Amino acid sequence: DTCIGVLTSGGDCPGLNAAIRGLGKAALDHYNMSVIGFRDGFRGLVQDRTLRITSDQLSGILTDGGTILGTSRDKPHKMPIGDRTEDMTDVIVENYHRHGLEAVVCIGGGGTQKNAMRLVEAGLNVVTLPKTIDNDIAETDVSFGFDTALQIATEAIDRLHSTATSHHRVIVVELMGHRAGWLALGAGIAGGADVILIPEIPYDPNLVTKAIKRRARRGHRFSIVAVAEGAVTIEQQQQIDTLLQEKKDAQEKDEKKAASDALKKFHEDHVDHTLLLTGQLEESTGMESRLTILGHLQRGGTPSAADRLLATKLGTACARLLADRKYGYMVASQGDSTAAVPLEKVAGNKKLVPTDHPWVEAARRVGTCMGDE
Ligand code: F6P
Repeated sequence: DTCIGVLTSGGDCPGLNAAIRGLGKAALDHYNMSVIGFRDGFRGLVQDRTLRITSDQLSGILTDGGTILGTSRDKPHKMPIGDRTEDMTDVIVENYHRHGLEAVVCIGGGGTQKNAMRLVEAGLNVVTLPKTIDNDIAETDVSFGFDTALQIATEAIDRLHSTATSHHRVIVVELMGHRAGWLALGAGIAGGADVILIPEIPYDPNLVTKAIKRRARRGHRFSIVAVAEGAVTIEQQQQIDTLLQEKKDAQEKDEKKAASDALKKFHEDHVDHTLLLTGQLEESTGMESRLTILGHLQRGGTPSAADRLLATKLGTACARLLADRKYGYMVASQGDSTAAVPLEKVAGNKKLVPTDHPWVEAARRVGTCMGDE
């Protein structure tokens, strides 16, 4: 009897249960494997907290948001234990063998792909699936969770229009996406935002002001500004570049750490940037301005049809890969098909929005201000 393990790790998103179901049903019924779920990501592998996956568990979960397995952001090599972290990779390897696992499937985003690679290096058979609303995982056209979040964010922008028009206000709406602009760009275009700011195109706040004033002169006395949580001004990008360069040039470990810490601090301090921008725009445009942060709403609830399809396609393809005993891959979606991509090509790489992406060009052509011209 072939036994496989499965866990979900990192931020939750719609489609996780659909992927667990696709993988589980195909593995149980089609390939006669048994399946053990580990709870709360890599933490469950360390603490050996399991859920035996049977057909019953998989019934009725296709449409549910979140994950029946639970999730966490814990990393195998930096597991929080009290007030410190410890490398628990050896414990994971031990538990893996104690259960007689043939392989473990890690479902997650960019961080999970890196952590899965660490388990490969520790000698385990691993296959991964790409999930995230950020859509920033390398080597896959799209990750499940993104389409649903795009739909939720677009609907939110639609709704903000009527209130912005009625009050003649500027509404800044902050969208998730980590350091990538896919969600803000996609929802901004689909929702008809007047300004879209994404991390890949650092912006000049004066140009945003100009665009809003120009609209007001033409009789549009409101504006919707869609901002990615990771968007930065041109000046801030220069700061980041300097810190990155310092980190690269550092000879001593201490110097490297100092640059790393400074970068971390920059990103921590950056969380308020949309609030600051809203205040700045109120002052510079003379128009009343409000901020809406969509936050975790973008990750909750039932997956869209496209995400259910994608998660089922990838989950079942994963079972097939396991049946073929092919390990060390992420199951990606490429065109209409699935592809097994070596994990080393995925781990540590991010898929950012190319600045000449057709979505960027489309946004510019409909007159959207991207903050750089
Ligand atoms: O990766 C998904 C994501 O929602 C990002 O868009 C966001 O930056 C992050 O997770 C938020 O993480 P948490 O839920 O841990 O606050």
